[in-house]
Amino acid sequence: MTKIIFFTHRLNILYSNMILMSTRLKVHKPYTLYEDGDHKFIWLGLDESEYEKGVLTNQYLITDGNEGILLDPGGYFVFERVFQNVGEFIKPENIKYILFSHQDPDVIGSLNLWMDVAPNATIYVSTLWERFVPHLGVEVRGRIVDIPDEGTRIKFGSSEIIAVPAHFLHSPGNFHYYDVKSKVYFSGDLGAAVFPEDKWYLIVDNFEEHIKYMEAFHRRYLANKKALSRLLSEIEKLSIEVIAPQHGSIFVGENVKKFINWLKSLDRIGVDYLWP
Ligand SMILES: [Fe+2]
Ligand SMILES: [Fe+2]
Repeated sequence: MTKIIFFTHRLNILYSNMILMSTRLKVHKPYTLYEDGDHKFIWLGLDESEYEKGVLTNQYLITDGNEGILLDPGGYFVFERVFQNVGEFIKPENIKYILFSHQDPDVIGSLNLWMDVAPNATIYVSTLWERFVPHLGVEVRGRIVDIPDEGTRIKFGSSEIIAVPAHFLHSPGNFHYYDVKSKVYFSGDLGAAVFPEDKWYLIVDNFEEHIKYMEAFHRRYLANKKALSRLLSEIEKLSIEVIAPQHGSIFVGENVKKFINWLKSLDRIGVDYLWP
């Protein structure tokens, strides 16, 4: 039976835990965003001390049966935590794909480690970045698929993953990944929130309050309104129940619509923000 695990009572428990957590650095366990029989979409936990090593990042695992997909597994310093948490769900040799939104160090910095521990994983990355990946000191020949600008579809167990073109948001070769079965949309850096050191929560509760943590990033990093409008017309074709970004907090239900409407409302971004 299909179930999105966001019942109100469970959210309330989560929020009250987060209020306690916000005053101290905490290690957060993985959280299953979606579960339907053998198919799961999982947030892979967080160690708040990672804040000292750079902006906090989210990693996600999609499982179907005993196979898995890693989404933006992250930088070098988060590898140990992500590896341990993946192991709660599947064996690393059963990671079938590692999907990258773009080429930033907080996205691909741990790739050389993953190539060792996940010997059966195939990597997907924009065709713009495929030739830069070997500079991490990793041999990827025969294990990398470069995604064309128009995107691609990846069959995975009982589902399909759509690589949605999100170019210039912020990287020139940039993809988001939509899991057709769970209706969870991994939005890479889009939706990123940067919190002050004593603040963090997993699920957005009050969207209006949340905007102040997102605004600076979206104004400065996204290239321009044309790129954003192009993406918005793409995602209108999808039925999205959850938006899961690589930084900050996750949007569920009504907040998915509020987030999309907020993106529509952004007037000056990127080049127009920097040089009005
Ligand atoms: Fe980035
Ligand atoms: Fe990022």
